[in-house]
Amino acid sequence: MEIIRRPRRLRGTQAIRDLVHETDLHVSDLIYPVFVVEGENIKEEIPSMPGIYHYSLDTFKDHLKEIADSGVRSIIFFGVPDHKDDVGSGAYDMEGIVQKALRLTKSLYPDLICIADICLCEYTSHGHCGVVDHGKILNDPTLTLLSKAAVSCAKSGADIVAPSDMMDGRIGHMRRALDEAGCEDTLIMAYSIKYASAFYGPFRQAADSAPAFGDRKTYQMDWRNKKEALVEAMLDVEEGADILMVKPALAYLDIVKTISDHFNLPLCTYSVSGEYSLMKAAALNGWVDEKSIVMESMTAMKRAGAKMIITYYALDIARWLKEEQ
Ligand code: PBG
Repeated sequence: MEIIRRPRRLRGTQAIRDLVHETDLHVSDLIYPVFVVEGENIKEEIPSMPGIYHYSLDTFKDHLKEIADSGVRSIIFFGVPDHKDDVGSGAYDMEGIVQKALRLTKSLYPDLICIADICLCEYTSHGHCGVVDHGKILNDPTLTLLSKAAVSCAKSGADIVAPSDMMDGRIGHMRRALDEAGCEDTLIMAYSIKYASAFYGPFRQAADSAPAFGDRKTYQMDWRNKKEALVEAMLDVEEGADILMVKPALAYLDIVKTISDHFNLPLCTYSVSGEYSLMKAAALNGWVDEKSIVMESMTAMKRAGAKMIITYYALDIARWLKEEQ
Protein backbone atom coordinates (compact mmCIF):
# COMPACT_ATOMS: atom_id res chain seq x y z
CA MET A 1 0.00 0.00 0.00
CA GLU A 2 1.26 3.43 -0.78
CA ILE A 3 0.24 5.56 2.17
CA ILE A 4 2.43 8.62 2.55
CA ARG A 5 0.89 9.94 5.76
CA ARG A 6 0.71 7.35 8.49
CA PRO A 7 -0.39 9.14 11.70
CA ARG A 8 0.04 5.86 13.58
CA ARG A 9 3.83 6.33 13.37
CA LEU A 10 3.43 9.01 16.05
CA ARG A 11 1.69 6.51 18.34
CA GLY A 12 4.11 3.60 18.02
CA THR A 13 5.53 3.49 21.54
CA GLN A 14 4.90 5.17 24.88
CA ALA A 15 8.17 7.07 24.48
CA ILE A 16 7.14 8.46 21.07
CA ARG A 17 3.70 9.30 22.41
CA ASP A 18 5.30 11.14 25.32
CA LEU A 19 7.64 12.96 22.95
CA VAL A 20 4.82 14.35 20.81
CA HIS A 21 2.02 14.78 23.35
CA GLU A 22 0.51 18.27 23.55
CA THR A 23 -1.29 18.66 26.85
CA ASP A 24 -0.07 18.26 30.40
CA LEU A 25 -1.73 18.35 33.77
CA HIS A 26 0.47 19.69 36.58
CA VAL A 27 -0.09 19.64 40.29
CA SER A 28 0.27 23.44 40.23
CA ASP A 29 -2.88 23.60 38.04
CA LEU A 30 -5.05 22.12 40.77
CA ILE A 31 -7.27 23.93 43.25
CA TYR A 32 -8.82 21.86 46.03
CA PRO A 33 -12.19 22.86 47.56
CA VAL A 34 -12.60 22.53 51.33
CA PHE A 35 -15.70 22.78 53.54
CA VAL A 36 -15.22 24.18 57.03
CA VAL A 37 -17.85 24.08 59.78
CA GLU A 38 -18.23 25.49 63.30
CA GLY A 39 -17.77 23.14 66.26
CA GLU A 40 -15.11 20.74 67.44
CA ASN A 41 -13.85 17.32 66.54
CA ILE A 42 -15.98 17.16 63.39
CA LYS A 43 -14.90 15.19 60.34
CA GLU A 44 -18.10 14.21 58.60
CA GLU A 45 -18.31 12.70 55.17
CA ILE A 46 -20.71 14.45 52.80
CA PRO A 47 -23.18 11.72 51.79
CA SER A 48 -23.46 12.82 48.16
CA MET A 49 -19.68 13.21 47.79
CA PRO A 50 -17.84 10.16 49.16
CA GLY A 51 -14.28 11.07 50.11
CA ILE A 52 -15.11 14.74 50.80
CA TYR A 53 -15.66 15.90 54.37
CA HIS A 54 -16.85 18.73 56.56
CA TYR A 55 -14.10 19.76 58.96
CA SER A 56 -14.21 21.78 62.13
CA LEU A 57 -11.10 23.91 62.54
CA ASP A 58 -9.31 21.47 64.89
CA THR A 59 -9.62 18.49 62.53
CA PHE A 60 -9.02 20.78 59.57
CA LYS A 61 -5.44 21.23 60.82
CA ASP A 62 -4.67 17.57 60.07
CA HIS A 63 -6.37 17.88 56.70
CA LEU A 64 -4.22 20.92 55.93
CA LYS A 65 -1.11 18.87 56.54
CA GLU A 66 -2.42 16.23 54.16
CA ILE A 67 -3.05 18.92 51.53
CA ALA A 68 0.38 20.52 52.00
CA ASP A 69 2.08 17.09 51.83
CA SER A 70 0.22 16.23 48.62
CA GLY A 71 1.93 19.03 46.73
CA VAL A 72 -1.36 20.81 45.93
CA ARG A 73 -0.69 24.51 46.37
CA SER A 74 -4.12 26.13 46.18
CA ILE A 75 -7.32 25.66 48.12
CA ILE A 76 -10.73 27.29 47.86
CA PHE A 77 -12.77 27.70 51.03
CA PHE A 78 -16.49 27.16 51.55
CA GLY A 79 -18.05 27.84 54.92
CA VAL A 80 -21.03 26.18 56.51
CA PRO A 81 -22.06 28.47 59.38
CA ASP A 82 -24.19 27.58 62.41
CA HIS A 83 -26.24 30.71 62.08
CA LYS A 84 -28.01 31.95 58.96
CA ASP A 85 -30.03 35.14 58.52
CA ASP A 86 -31.80 37.21 55.85
CA VAL A 87 -28.71 39.14 54.81
CA GLY A 88 -26.08 36.41 55.15
CA SER A 89 -24.11 38.30 57.78
CA GLY A 90 -21.88 35.28 58.43
CA ALA A 91 -20.31 35.91 55.04
CA TYR A 92 -18.74 39.20 56.17
CA ASP A 93 -18.18 38.58 59.86
CA MET A 94 -14.49 38.80 60.82
CA GLU A 95 -15.26 35.91 63.20
CA GLY A 96 -17.04 33.94 60.46
CA ILE A 97 -16.00 30.36 59.85
CA VAL A 98 -14.11 31.03 56.61
CA GLN A 99 -12.35 34.09 58.03
CA LYS A 100 -11.16 31.97 60.99
CA ALA A 101 -10.10 29.14 58.68
CA LEU A 102 -8.14 31.58 56.52
CA ARG A 103 -6.23 32.98 59.51
CA LEU A 104 -5.48 29.48 60.78
CA THR A 105 -4.29 28.29 57.37
CA LYS A 106 -2.06 31.29 56.75
CA SER A 107 -0.51 30.97 60.22
CA LEU A 108 0.43 27.34 59.55
CA TYR A 109 1.07 27.30 55.78
CA PRO A 110 1.75 30.85 54.60
CA ASP A 111 2.68 29.68 51.10
CA LEU A 112 -0.55 27.81 50.43
CA ILE A 113 -2.64 29.91 48.03
CA CYS A 114 -5.91 30.63 49.82
CA ILE A 115 -8.96 31.41 47.72
CA ALA A 116 -12.19 32.54 49.37
CA ASP A 117 -15.42 31.77 47.54
CA ILE A 118 -17.51 34.91 47.96
CA CYS A 119 -21.26 34.36 48.04
CA LEU A 120 -24.19 34.74 50.38
CA CYS A 121 -26.09 31.51 49.72
CA GLU A 122 -24.41 29.44 52.42
CA TYR A 123 -25.17 32.21 54.93
CA THR A 124 -28.71 33.28 54.06
CA SER A 125 -31.78 31.69 55.62
CA HIS A 126 -33.49 31.67 52.20
CA GLY A 127 -30.44 30.14 50.44
CA HIS A 128 -30.29 32.71 47.64
CA CYS A 129 -27.04 34.37 46.58
CA GLY A 130 -28.39 37.88 47.13
CA VAL A 131 -30.70 40.01 49.23
CA VAL A 132 -34.35 39.04 48.76
CA ASP A 133 -37.34 41.37 48.71
CA HIS A 134 -40.84 40.02 48.02
CA GLY A 135 -39.43 36.99 46.23
CA LYS A 136 -37.04 39.06 44.08
CA ILE A 137 -33.28 38.72 44.30
CA LEU A 138 -32.03 42.31 44.44
CA ASN A 139 -28.85 43.12 42.57
CA ASP A 140 -27.44 46.42 43.81
CA PRO A 141 -28.03 46.06 47.57
CA THR A 142 -26.25 42.70 47.35
CA LEU A 143 -23.06 44.26 45.97
CA THR A 144 -22.23 46.08 49.20
CA LEU A 145 -22.52 42.84 51.18
CA LEU A 146 -20.41 40.85 48.72
CA SER A 147 -17.71 43.52 48.82
CA LYS A 148 -17.76 43.44 52.61
CA ALA A 149 -17.31 39.66 52.45
CA ALA A 150 -14.40 40.04 50.02
CA VAL A 151 -12.65 42.64 52.19
CA SER A 152 -13.10 40.60 55.37
CA CYS A 153 -11.64 37.51 53.66
CA ALA A 154 -8.75 39.50 52.17
CA LYS A 155 -8.00 40.98 55.61
CA SER A 156 -8.07 37.44 57.05
CA GLY A 157 -5.42 36.27 54.60
CA ALA A 158 -7.13 35.30 51.34
CA ASP A 159 -4.74 35.73 48.42
CA ILE A 160 -7.64 35.51 45.98
CA VAL A 161 -11.34 36.27 46.34
CA ALA A 162 -13.69 34.40 44.03
CA PRO A 163 -17.21 35.86 43.76
CA SER A 164 -19.65 33.12 42.70
CA ASP A 165 -22.94 34.98 43.13
CA MET A 166 -23.54 36.21 39.52
CA MET A 167 -24.85 39.67 40.47
CA ASP A 168 -24.18 42.35 37.83
CA GLY A 169 -21.35 44.77 38.50
CA ARG A 170 -19.88 42.89 41.43
CA ILE A 171 -16.34 42.69 40.13
CA GLY A 172 -15.97 46.46 39.74
CA HIS A 173 -17.66 47.11 43.07
CA MET A 174 -15.42 44.58 44.81
CA ARG A 175 -12.24 45.85 43.17
CA ARG A 176 -12.96 49.38 44.42
CA ALA A 177 -13.79 48.14 47.91
CA LEU A 178 -10.62 46.04 48.09
CA ASP A 179 -8.46 48.92 46.90
CA GLU A 180 -10.04 51.34 49.37
CA ALA A 181 -9.35 48.87 52.16
CA GLY A 182 -5.68 48.68 51.18
CA CYS A 183 -6.02 45.23 49.60
CA GLU A 184 -4.88 46.21 46.12
CA ASP A 185 -2.72 43.07 45.90
CA THR A 186 -5.65 40.70 46.46
CA LEU A 187 -6.56 38.98 43.22
CA ILE A 188 -10.12 38.55 41.96
CA MET A 189 -10.96 35.23 40.33
CA ALA A 190 -14.37 35.88 38.82
CA TYR A 191 -16.89 33.11 38.40
CA SER A 192 -17.59 34.97 35.18
CA ILE A 193 -19.49 32.27 33.38
CA LYS A 194 -21.61 30.30 35.77
CA TYR A 195 -24.54 28.38 34.42
CA ALA A 196 -27.72 27.53 36.34
CA SER A 197 -26.67 23.91 36.45
CA ALA A 198 -28.09 20.75 37.95
CA PHE A 199 -24.47 19.65 38.40
CA TYR A 200 -24.34 21.71 41.64
CA GLY A 201 -26.79 19.35 43.37
CA PRO A 202 -24.34 17.51 45.65
CA PHE A 203 -22.63 20.80 46.66
CA ARG A 204 -25.92 22.24 47.86
CA GLN A 205 -26.28 19.26 50.15
CA ALA A 206 -22.67 19.77 51.29
CA ALA A 207 -23.07 23.49 51.90
CA ASP A 208 -26.72 23.36 52.96
CA SER A 209 -27.33 26.14 50.44
CA ALA A 210 -30.26 25.02 48.29
CA PRO A 211 -32.66 27.94 47.71
CA ALA A 212 -35.72 27.72 49.95
CA PHE A 213 -37.96 28.97 47.12
CA GLY A 214 -37.59 29.21 43.36
CA ASP A 215 -34.27 28.64 41.63
CA ARG A 216 -31.17 30.58 40.60
CA LYS A 217 -32.21 31.18 36.99
CA THR A 218 -32.62 34.96 37.34
CA TYR A 219 -28.91 35.32 38.09
CA GLN A 220 -27.04 32.20 36.92
CA MET A 221 -26.85 31.69 33.17
CA ASP A 222 -29.12 29.76 30.83
CA TRP A 223 -27.19 26.72 29.58
CA ARG A 224 -28.73 27.01 26.16
CA ASN A 225 -26.60 30.11 25.55
CA LYS A 226 -23.06 30.77 24.48
CA LYS A 227 -23.02 34.42 23.36
CA GLU A 228 -23.79 35.75 26.79
CA ALA A 229 -20.70 33.92 28.06
CA LEU A 230 -18.67 36.35 25.95
CA VAL A 231 -20.60 39.31 27.38
CA GLU A 232 -20.10 38.15 30.97
CA ALA A 233 -16.38 37.61 30.43
CA MET A 234 -15.99 40.99 28.71
CA LEU A 235 -17.68 42.80 31.60
CA ASP A 236 -15.51 41.06 34.19
CA VAL A 237 -12.35 41.93 32.27
CA GLU A 238 -13.45 45.57 32.05
CA GLU A 239 -14.34 45.62 35.74
CA GLY A 240 -10.91 44.41 36.80
CA ALA A 241 -10.99 40.60 37.16
CA ASP A 242 -7.53 38.96 37.26
CA ILE A 243 -8.64 35.41 36.47
CA LEU A 244 -11.79 34.24 34.65
CA MET A 245 -13.73 31.08 35.35
CA VAL A 246 -16.11 28.81 33.48
CA LYS A 247 -18.35 26.61 35.59
CA PRO A 248 -19.26 23.73 35.35
CA ALA A 249 -16.42 22.18 33.34
CA LEU A 250 -17.06 18.87 31.62
CA ALA A 251 -20.35 19.66 29.90
CA TYR A 252 -19.07 23.16 29.03
CA LEU A 253 -15.74 22.58 27.29
CA ASP A 254 -16.98 24.47 24.22
CA ILE A 255 -17.38 27.51 26.49
CA VAL A 256 -13.92 26.95 27.99
CA LYS A 257 -12.49 26.86 24.48
CA THR A 258 -14.37 29.98 23.35
CA ILE A 259 -13.36 32.04 26.39
CA SER A 260 -9.76 30.87 26.13
CA ASP A 261 -9.68 31.88 22.45
CA HIS A 262 -11.21 35.33 23.07
CA PHE A 263 -9.57 36.51 26.29
CA ASN A 264 -6.00 36.73 27.45
CA LEU A 265 -6.50 36.41 31.18
CA PRO A 266 -5.68 33.11 32.92
CA LEU A 267 -8.70 30.82 32.76
CA CYS A 268 -9.97 28.53 35.48
CA THR A 269 -12.66 25.90 35.14
CA TYR A 270 -14.57 24.36 38.02
CA SER A 271 -15.20 20.65 37.80
CA VAL A 272 -18.19 20.84 40.10
CA SER A 273 -19.69 18.53 42.69
CA GLY A 274 -22.01 16.72 40.26
CA GLU A 275 -19.08 15.87 38.01
CA TYR A 276 -17.21 14.47 41.00
CA SER A 277 -20.20 12.51 42.27
CA LEU A 278 -20.93 10.97 38.86
CA MET A 279 -17.37 9.77 38.43
CA LYS A 280 -17.09 8.65 42.07
CA ALA A 281 -20.37 6.69 42.00
CA ALA A 282 -19.42 4.85 38.81
CA ALA A 283 -15.96 4.13 40.22
CA LEU A 284 -17.36 2.82 43.51
CA ASN A 285 -19.59 0.50 41.50
CA GLY A 286 -16.59 -0.80 39.60
CA TRP A 287 -18.09 0.41 36.32
CA VAL A 288 -15.19 2.65 35.30
CA ASP A 289 -11.52 2.92 36.13
CA GLU A 290 -11.45 5.97 38.38
CA LYS A 291 -7.92 7.18 37.74
CA SER A 292 -8.22 6.86 33.96
CA ILE A 293 -11.61 8.55 33.83
CA VAL A 294 -10.47 11.43 36.03
CA MET A 295 -7.12 12.01 34.29
CA GLU A 296 -8.76 11.93 30.87
CA SER A 297 -11.45 14.40 31.96
CA MET A 298 -8.99 16.82 33.59
CA THR A 299 -6.63 16.72 30.62
CA ALA A 300 -9.60 17.47 28.35
CA MET A 301 -10.26 20.63 30.41
CA LYS A 302 -6.63 21.69 29.93
CA ARG A 303 -6.80 20.86 26.21
CA ALA A 304 -9.93 23.02 25.87
CA GLY A 305 -7.94 25.96 27.23
CA ALA A 306 -8.22 25.98 31.00
CA LYS A 307 -5.02 26.91 32.80
CA MET A 308 -6.26 25.76 36.21
CA ILE A 309 -8.95 23.44 37.51
CA ILE A 310 -10.93 23.43 40.73
CA THR A 311 -11.57 19.77 41.49
CA TYR A 312 -12.55 17.61 44.45
CA TYR A 313 -10.16 15.05 42.97
CA ALA A 314 -7.12 17.34 43.46
CA LEU A 315 -5.47 15.26 46.19
CA ASP A 316 -5.97 12.01 44.26
CA ILE A 317 -4.61 13.56 41.09
CA ALA A 318 -1.56 14.86 42.96
CA ARG A 319 -0.93 11.30 44.18
CA TRP A 320 -1.43 9.79 40.72
CA LEU A 321 0.93 12.35 39.18
CA LYS A 322 3.59 11.48 41.77
CA GLU A 323 3.17 7.75 41.09
CA GLU A 324 3.86 8.35 37.40
CA GLN A 325 7.20 10.06 38.04
C1 PBG B 1 -22.10 29.34 45.75
C2 PBG B 1 -21.45 28.25 44.99
C3 PBG B 1 -22.03 27.08 44.45
C4 PBG B 1 -20.96 26.34 43.94
C5 PBG B 1 -19.81 27.06 44.16
N1 PBG B 1 -20.14 28.25 44.79
C6 PBG B 1 -23.42 26.59 44.47
C7 PBG B 1 -24.49 27.24 43.70
O1 PBG B 1 -24.28 28.19 42.94
O2 PBG B 1 -25.61 26.80 43.91
C8 PBG B 1 -21.08 24.98 43.30
C9 PBG B 1 -19.88 24.13 43.42
C10 PBG B 1 -20.09 22.69 43.13
O3 PBG B 1 -21.17 22.23 42.72
O4 PBG B 1 -19.10 21.96 43.29
N2 PBG B 1 -22.90 30.17 45.01
